[in-house]
Amino acid sequence: MTVESQQAVIESFKKAGQDQLFTYFDSLSETEQKKLIDQLSTIEDPSELVKTVQEAIQYSSNSSSRNITQLPDESTASTIGLDNDTYERWSELGFKAIANGEVAILLMAGGQGTRLGSDAPKGCFDINLPSHKSLFQVQGEKILKIEKLTQAKYDLKETPVITWYIMTSGPTRESTEAFFKKNNFFGLQSTQVKFFNQGTLPCFDLNGEKILLQSKDAICESPDGNGGLYKALQNDGILEDMVNKNIKHIHMYCVDNSLVKVADPVFIGFAIDKKFDLATKVVRKRDATESVGLIVLDDDSKRPCVIEYSEISQELAEKKDPQDSNKLFLRAANIVNHYYSIDVLTKMIPKWISSQEYLPFHIAKKKIPSMNLKINEFYKPTEPNGIKLEQFIFDVFPSVALDKFGCLEVDRLDEFSPLKNADGAKNDTPTTCRLHYLARGTNWVKKNGGILENEDDVVEVLPSTSYGGEGLEFVKGQKFKNGDII
Ligand code: UD1
Repeated sequence: MTVESQQAVIESFKKAGQDQLFTYFDSLSETEQKKLIDQLSTIEDPSELVKTVQEAIQYSSNSSSRNITQLPDESTASTIGLDNDTYERWSELGFKAIANGEVAILLMAGGQGTRLGSDAPKGCFDINLPSHKSLFQVQGEKILKIEKLTQAKYDLKETPVITWYIMTSGPTRESTEAFFKKNNFFGLQSTQVKFFNQGTLPCFDLNGEKILLQSKDAICESPDGNGGLYKALQNDGILEDMVNKNIKHIHMYCVDNSLVKVADPVFIGFAIDKKFDLATKVVRKRDATESVGLIVLDDDSKRPCVIEYSEISQELAEKKDPQDSNKLFLRAANIVNHYYSIDVLTKMIPKWISSQEYLPFHIAKKKIPSMNLKINEFYKPTEPNGIKLEQFIFDVFPSVALDKFGCLEVDRLDEFSPLKNADGAKNDTPTTCRLHYLARGTNWVKKNGGILENEDDVVEVLPSTSYGGEGLEFVKGQKFKNGDII
């Protein structure tokens, strides 16, 4: 970069009121100066960015004014109490699509997991199962299993291959990839796993006016939220890769759900059967305070949308269903488990990423380790000191017509136990994930006639043994004790 263009970058930031970024500039070596300028030059228009932050602050304070209600019955279904014929039809459609090579899996693993307090990516976390398999390993082995089940079901010569697209971010990329390599891709072919990175954005002070410095020669940045997925799919050539591979159905999920059913044929079949462009799985919200978004209908626009847990009023969260006062009125908890048709992605992504109308920025007030310019020292704040900007993956839902959007309720005990908090918290911890994981497997074993030594004993069923409770007839009459691995 020439001296003139360096100067132009500095000027554009000063014009946007960001003089603080150059507090130490004159004392830096030439290499350090270059490092800072290089980082800053990735931001196209700093004045525009500052405007965006101000709009995001405004947006976040207004967004609860929507008129929202439950989705209509036509948009919803439930696997709980579902008749066998429908279940089998959906399952068959899903398996067929896998056999035809039309299904891909998309994993979001770009979050920094600050609430969990672990430095490693969440997927590497060992929730202390008897086998000590990490979340990534369980998910990888489930993919292998569903591929094998498909092969056996149709007596295929070759095992169908499901591509696993994994979105990481600056902070999680290197260690995620290293973990996969160290573990031999959990038995998958290395070529069927494709990593790509989401973008990052600068962090601001609490007023949303000044970008924070991480050191004298670097600004603080954070991943652009899980809504950054769409831009990354387009810009990193992932969408193109999917089209080239003739993929038609995409199952997207979050890394932190310890019970996730990757490439779930029933969910994929549900969407295929009903010709949905976009579908989402939900579980019944545990109670009014659970930190989950809710899949709802915007009653004014008659479009599907999500109201996030950070944005719902207490009154609305606690409102009871007039039809059944034992239930919450809004209870379809978002578990970030979506189906996309390739058509909706290719048609809509260019639109979605072109304007904040579809993907507005939300602000999150966080404790951001940064330079304290008053004392010229790096510090770790104990109270929130800044703002991170995030796009939310579900903000595009209202751009899908209601009759092209589906919501499938599933049993929480079978499909949802997220790893969010460190042990000691009440819910969503390594301990609750382990208990739920083992309880599900133990239940499968009992249903198949397996016998446990003590009533409270729990066992682990490996993904290679069973994907979703099938294939366990052999346990009938067998005795198991606490901690056994099947
Ligand atoms: C999310 C949902 C919430 C839902 C809950 C269920 C959003 C915005 N909110 O909330 O509605 O009820 O999960 O567990 O989706 N991620 C990235 N990049 C980022 C940020 C996050 O890839 O920049 C990934 C994480 O790795 C994780 C997922 O997105 O897989 C969810 O992120 P997290 O920030 O934990 O979401 P929650 O606040 O729990």
